[in-house]
Amino acid sequence: MEYFVAKTFAGLETELFKELHALGAENCQKLSRAVAFEGDLAMLYRANYFCRTALRILWRRKQFTFKTNRQFYEQIYDFPAEEVLSPDGTLAVHATIVDSIFNTPLYASVLAKDAICDRFREKYDRRPSVDKEYPDVQFHLHVYKNEAQLFMDSSGESLHKRGYKVRNHPAPLNEVTAAAMIKMSGWNGSCDFVDPMCGGGTLLIEAAMQALNIPAGFYRREYGFYQWKNFDRQLWKKVREEADIKDDVAINFYGSDIDGRFLDIARANVQKARLQDFIVLERQEMQRSYPENKPSVVMMNPPYGERLSVDDISTLYKEMGDALKNRYAGCKAYIISSDKDALKHIGLKPSRKWPMLNGSLECMFQEYELFTGDRKQHVIRQKNA
Ligand SMILES: C[S@@+](CC[C@H](N)C(=O)[O-])C[C@H]1O[C@@H](n2cnc3c(N)ncnc32)[C@H](O)[C@@H]1O
Repeated sequence: MEYFVAKTFAGLETELFKELHALGAENCQKLSRAVAFEGDLAMLYRANYFCRTALRILWRRKQFTFKTNRQFYEQIYDFPAEEVLSPDGTLAVHATIVDSIFNTPLYASVLAKDAICDRFREKYDRRPSVDKEYPDVQFHLHVYKNEAQLFMDSSGESLHKRGYKVRNHPAPLNEVTAAAMIKMSGWNGSCDFVDPMCGGGTLLIEAAMQALNIPAGFYRREYGFYQWKNFDRQLWKKVREEADIKDDVAINFYGSDIDGRFLDIARANVQKARLQDFIVLERQEMQRSYPENKPSVVMMNPPYGERLSVDDISTLYKEMGDALKNRYAGCKAYIISSDKDALKHIGLKPSRKWPMLNGSLECMFQEYELFTGDRKQHVIRQKNA
């Protein structure tokens, strides 16, 4: 049993925990912005390939206590790095320190890098070189007081980079955030999914991937572990074959946006994900949009006024609220926004809300139950149903 840590955004730990547990990870434990779990090498590959709410998966290779720089150096030197890295390969060490004897994380990372390289020099008379951008092995060192943990980053580029975004919207939703929003809403693929402010199409593509069981890593070309000396190609193939992708689903995905340039971006991304048979895109103002079928789940990420210039963000949010009330009765709507004042202009009472991050932006994700008539009557009808 190996010990792994899956990293995520603040607020998504519960969703990540559920995903890892469902994948068969053992001893899952929620941490801050991460979930620790145990398993074998297949589990490490599985977490990388299937987890939609993880940003990266770290594999703990060594844990030790130390009192002096010398002890720290010797402990790292003892790690058999030659099992994963060749003397002609490249490495990088990233360190985080809390209350330790080191004054800076840089000092800890240089000391660890020296220890690893000195071991190579001793054994082979050659040593790997440092490549901070694309190392063969990216080490992460966590030092808390006099305890150190040495991890290898198995993911490489962050797992939110799914591989389907061939063109970028200027204010995109992070793929991990989008996947978590869909999971938190409880939508299970049994009704249509609508994004009337779809931009580059992140929510639509993530929703279609979930409904069709397409693994999060299906379109990715690279993982950090591909460069490791102990990369088990056969095992990786077996793990990918565990995917049970559906050919079809009995629902549709509808996306629209007011801006034709952004729809072109969405089209390119949908095409790359080979989801054009499932996702219908059209140019449309949200205020004039309506669902093809009811009930539908409507999820959107309107402009925040921070990254996109909108003349009057309050009017836009009021008009969005009116459109939801008048055109989407019978549906459930979900809105993520960092503009808490603007959200008040929606004029609807959220039935649930979650604080969330979109990249570094602090947001609120809110659910609205849309019904005809007044709320009291709706609650009574629900109770009697
Ligand atoms: C924050 S972006 C959405 C980004 C998208 N979630 C993604 O991941 O690429 C907001 C989008 O709302 C669109 N928009 C703004 N006002 C609109 C309106 N009245 N009706 C429809 N779309 C609108 C913008 O063109 C923009 O693409």
